[in-house]
Amino acid sequence: MPELSKAELDRCLKEAIGIAKLAGLFMLDCMERNKELTAESKSTPVDMVTEYDKKVEDMILTRLAKEFPDFDMLGEESAYANGPPKLTNKPTWIVDPIDGTLSFMHKSFDCCTSIGLAVNKKAVLGVVYSPGLNELYTGVKGQGSFCNGVPLQVSPQTSLKNSLVSTHFPSFTRSPAFVDSLFNVWKELMKVPTQGCRAYGSAAIDMCSVAKGRLDAYFEVGICAWDVCAGAIIIEEAGGLVLDITGGEFDLENRRLLCTSSPELAKEILTIVKKLDLSTAKL
Ligand code: IPD
Repeated sequence: MPELSKAELDRCLKEAIGIAKLAGLFMLDCMERNKELTAESKSTPVDMVTEYDKKVEDMILTRLAKEFPDFDMLGEESAYANGPPKLTNKPTWIVDPIDGTLSFMHKSFDCCTSIGLAVNKKAVLGVVYSPGLNELYTGVKGQGSFCNGVPLQVSPQTSLKNSLVSTHFPSFTRSPAFVDSLFNVWKELMKVPTQGCRAYGSAAIDMCSVAKGRLDAYFEVGICAWDVCAGAIIIEEAGGLVLDITGGEFDLENRRLLCTSSPELAKEILTIVKKLDLSTAKL
């Protein structure tokens, strides 16, 4: 599939920013009014969806479909409507209406809307808007990435001992074997030691934090394309690395990633992260 032209990407960015800001208004309205939420669980008892996830996704996909009738669409809450989702090479909007649903339900700051665009299954454009943080992140292939209009640059960190690292205990599994294995990796990271480990609630925000240089690395198993498409291009355009958790090439459909500020840091952290027992992950 041919790449999109600069003019096409400019239009995509403009539309995605407008839509992400609108999604943010929905989220803020709910959070500030302390609204009672209706929520259901999905794949596990802690993998949640609220009526806002559905409402916001509906709004985003309807608007994008109207503006870009020839593009494919993949939204978290409707992704499994026709069986397991599969990306095509066509330009595809990949949308997480509320990334960090659990945080959103608890009125915590770390939730956002993430709108990514992939062509040939690779991220080419991303918009992440967190109304709680009042941060709008954008990134376009070959054009740099920005937070509230200010250019982003990853941290200059090359060594694990000076790094702040984030990982999450994902909602897709809390099997004792997986949680133990992840805690073992966490323990080892603390013993190296890193300066600190964090576990926030939104993959997209943590990826933007790596792009902004306030985290040096973030890794997770179990994430989906809608969690990471926008963040991937935002990091790459800020000079960072997005890899598979094994150190290989990142694949939007592989459900695992490691992001770092530098190849040196990736090499060092991989020696520990590779000990995560992926056979316990039950993807
Ligand atoms: C989740 C968040 C969370 C990550 C999970 C994701 P959701 O997305 O990004 O931080 O740990 O793996 O599924 O379900 O809130 O959109």
